Parts: sequence; structure tokens; C-alpha cells
Amino acid sequence: MERLEVKKVNHRFGFSEILKDINFTLNKGEVLSIVGPSGGGKTTLLHLCANLLDVEEGSVTNTFLSSAFAFQEARLLPWKNVIDNIAMGLLAEGEKKSIAVKKSKEIALRFGLEEDDFDKFPKDLSGGMKQRVSFARALVVKPSLLFLDEPFSALDIGLKKELQTILIAMIAKKEISILFITHDLMEAIRLSDEMLLLKADPGHIVKKFRFDLPQNERDDRYVYGKSAEILQDEEIINTFELELK
Ligand SMILES: Nc1ncnc2c1ncn2[C@@H]1O[C@H](COP(=O)(O)OP(=O)(O)OP(=O)(O)O)[C@@H](O)[C@H]1O
Ligand SMILES: [Mg+2]
Repeated sequence: MERLEVKKVNHRFGFSEILKDINFTLNKGEVLSIVGPSGGGKTTLLHLCANLLDVEEGSVTNTFLSSAFAFQEARLLPWKNVIDNIAMGLLAEGEKKSIAVKKSKEIALRFGLEEDDFDKFPKDLSGGMKQRVSFARALVVKPSLLFLDEPFSALDIGLKKELQTILIAMIAKKEISILFITHDLMEAIRLSDEMLLLKADPGHIVKKFRFDLPQNERDDRYVYGKSAEILQDEEIINTFELELK
């Protein structure tokens, strides 16, 4: 069984304690989200899970057959155009250039980019376009596990919903497992099977929420209803410091 297992992970940068006693498991076909305040260690945790940062204490075991990452800041290669940025992972896997370009064009269109954009370089793209390219580059390789760090933060609500719908269709077909970070509670409620609430200083999990209704059956009413309910949760209020002062 493919899975990601995080056990007793602690992390420090210099003398600052960033993460403390993190434990969770992501099984194949599941979507796990991590929400929490800015600076709480979410990106650090995702980097540890994706092996982009060395685990110093505790363990991260990843048995997924393949994985891909879409970063919070898109991290495109400035000297490559849109299509060549998207095609990178395919070419690294040894895909033929013509096929890699064809698949990259298809996914670019599906993610709301236009043919006119294909030859543009990152400096000529808006923030939202960069995020779409980054997201396309991660998905084009059909990873078994997808790591997403605030992938929709620079998108307008229409496009955000479109990309979420694409993911939800993949989730329904059990094509993908996802570990993602978001500031957006509604996004977490729409997409995840389980949501971990990470409180800061040092980052630790204070609560786990489960959403059992299949993602493709969650309508706006469900998402708004759950959001309203969760916003009353004491741990959420404390963690995001929502109480009126
Ligand atoms: N390479 C690094 N060296 C030193 N400190 C770091 C490094 N990367 C992150 N930090 C610190 O670790 C803490 C957590 O950062 P991280 O980026 O994981 O937070 P985050 O929860 O993702 O925040 P945001 O929601 O704003 O993206 C911050 O205090 C940050 O300054
Ligand atoms: Mg972050």
C-alpha cells in the first residue's frame, strides 16, 4: 500500500524550534490538508515530507511510487517559456520531446492558459498565470502523490474553482493522493478527507477534522455550512486568534 507516514517529527532552524511532535499518515487515494497561521511551519513541514529538506528528528516514510510538488511561489525557470517549463518533468522522465510538448500544451489549455501564452517567459506572466504553469507542471507527470503549497492563492475565484474541480474529478477516480497547505478553510473543506490544524510557536497539530462526504458530492451549501461550524471551534479560534480583542 502506498502511503506517507510522518512520525514524531521535530524541526529547528538554528535555535528556533519550528515544528514539534508532528504525526500523521496519508493513505493512497486520500487528501490531507494542513491549515494554520502564517509562519507556523506549514511549508517547512511539506518540504520535510517531500524530501526537499532533511528530517533531523523523527521519521518521514514515503512509499508512493511517484510524487510532484507545486510551490507557494511558482519557481519557474526564467529562461524557459511556459510550455518548456511544464514539460520539464516529462523530459526528465525520458519522454520524447514532441510528446512532452503535446501533453504540456493540452494541460496548459485545460488549466486556463491560452495559445498566445505558450511562448511567454515567466517574467511576462501574471502571478495567477505562473501558478497555473506551476500546477500544470506538477500534474502533467500524473504523480501518485501531489504536494501542493497554497497552489490557488494567486487565482481569481472562477479559476480557483475550475482547478479545484479538475482535482476533485481526479480524487473521485482515486487517481491521486494529495498533501496540501492552505490558508483558506473553505478550500480545505472542499477538497480534503482530513484537515490538520497546525498551531504556531512551535508548529504542532492541535486538532484533526475529518470530512466523510465524497468530494464530488460537496456543494457550496455543504462547504459554507461546515465552514460556519468550524469557525466556531475553539481550537480554530485560538489558533487563528479570531477572538475579538
Ligand atoms: N531556511 C530557513 N532558515 C531559517 N528559518 C526558516 C527557513 N525557512 C523557514 N524559516 C522560518 O520557519 C518558520 C516557519 O516558516 P514556514 O515557511 O514553514 O511557514 P508557513 O506556515 O509556511 O507560513 P506561510 O503561511 O506564511 O507560508 C518561520 O519563522 C520562518 O522564518
Ligand atoms: Mg508557507
